Amino acid sequence: MAMAPSVFAFPRLVCIFLFFIAIVTAGAAPVSNLGQREEIKRKLMDNGIGLTPQMGWNTWNHFHCDVDEKLIRETADAMVSTGLSKVGYEYINIDDCWAELNRDSMGNLVPKASTFPSGIRALADYVHKKGLKFGLYSNAGTTTCSQSMPGSLGYEEQDAKTFALWGVDYLKYDNCDNSGTSPRERFPKMSKALLETGRPIFFSLCEWGEEDPATWAPGLGNSWRTTDDIVDSWGSMATRADLNDKWASYAGPGGWNDPDMLEVGNGGMTTEEYRSHFSIWALIKAPLLIGCDIRSMDNATFEILSNKEVIDVNQDKLGVQGKKVKKDGELEVWAGPLSGNRVAVILWNRGPIKAELTVFWSDIGLSSSTIVDVRNLWKHKTETSVQGKISAEVESHGCEMYVLSPSGVRH
Ligand code: GAL
Repeated sequence: MAMAPSVFAFPRLVCIFLFFIAIVTAGAAPVSNLGQREEIKRKLMDNGIGLTPQMGWNTWNHFHCDVDEKLIRETADAMVSTGLSKVGYEYINIDDCWAELNRDSMGNLVPKASTFPSGIRALADYVHKKGLKFGLYSNAGTTTCSQSMPGSLGYEEQDAKTFALWGVDYLKYDNCDNSGTSPRERFPKMSKALLETGRPIFFSLCEWGEEDPATWAPGLGNSWRTTDDIVDSWGSMATRADLNDKWASYAGPGGWNDPDMLEVGNGGMTTEEYRSHFSIWALIKAPLLIGCDIRSMDNATFEILSNKEVIDVNQDKLGVQGKKVKKDGELEVWAGPLSGNRVAVILWNRGPIKAELTVFWSDIGLSSSTIVDVRNLWKHKTETSVQGKISAEVESHGCEMYVLSPSGVRH
């Protein structure tokens, strides 16, 4: 399933990055795939949010249906007390399993009494008081994927009004129990209903990439899943990065490709693998939605999730998704342009043994004479006046991540 970009894909990428040469050497306007983005922008969902990829936390990857209001409150507390909110994480999102199986006599969704006795409104208020935002989940079908609560199909306006009334800032909208009909018929109804509430609600489409949503979802939502569910393993994570890569040109401020939520801290990968996971997600402008228990995360997890320099790449205002630009067996270079005439680069060793990786300026469209300052985002060190290439010994399944800036320019 993994996309293996051939060397023949290279010239096109080189062309894209050739623009970047111009920037670095002549200080011209920064490069991006603006032509296509401008085209898409006119069709973007008009809610004014999602100008950078969403950052926050979601219950599903760690807790699945084992969720209650105490968990949500404690997680909101931890988001602030750990300092994660300070580096940009803002959404506290409940996934599936928060409602009773049956609507009330008026057709309203009912929070599950045994797990959310105080109701959703009270919980959203609690989260808001912490300076955070609150997200909820529903489904464009009759019941949700867990089959434990109703979906919103046929109730889009009513449910959107309920969500707005409760103070919901984010809706993840799933695709189960849909009688085989196209998401292109069902998702626009919720998109419109949310807009009509007048409350800015981040709309996250989750139809698992089945109908190539990158090609139609920018007009409906702020992000769209490009893959089926991630699991907490190296193979699953790396495959999702590859599957997502082909849609890079469709992402940009207001609408993002979503290769699924982070597994960092859940225990199924090594620290090196989690560092690669986080670095690649940042570079490809994926949503940074934490999926572990942040109340009890260890230091290594915190160090990864709170790396502000890596987060800054993800949240860069230019909003251009980085891509795989070179592949030599299992040794890969991923890169993409940033604002301020900079470029982000990852050397990713997907092989089983430590190896030396090199990115030549020609791999990322720079002329060999270009001189840059190289910031290593994991070692937090800068090397000045670098010309031609960067080489590094990279651990198996690990990566090095850099930002290259025009030499002598402070950022
Ligand atoms: C899946 C979705 C997951 C999670 C789950 C809940 O369809 O891809 O991210 O939301 O449903 O049941």
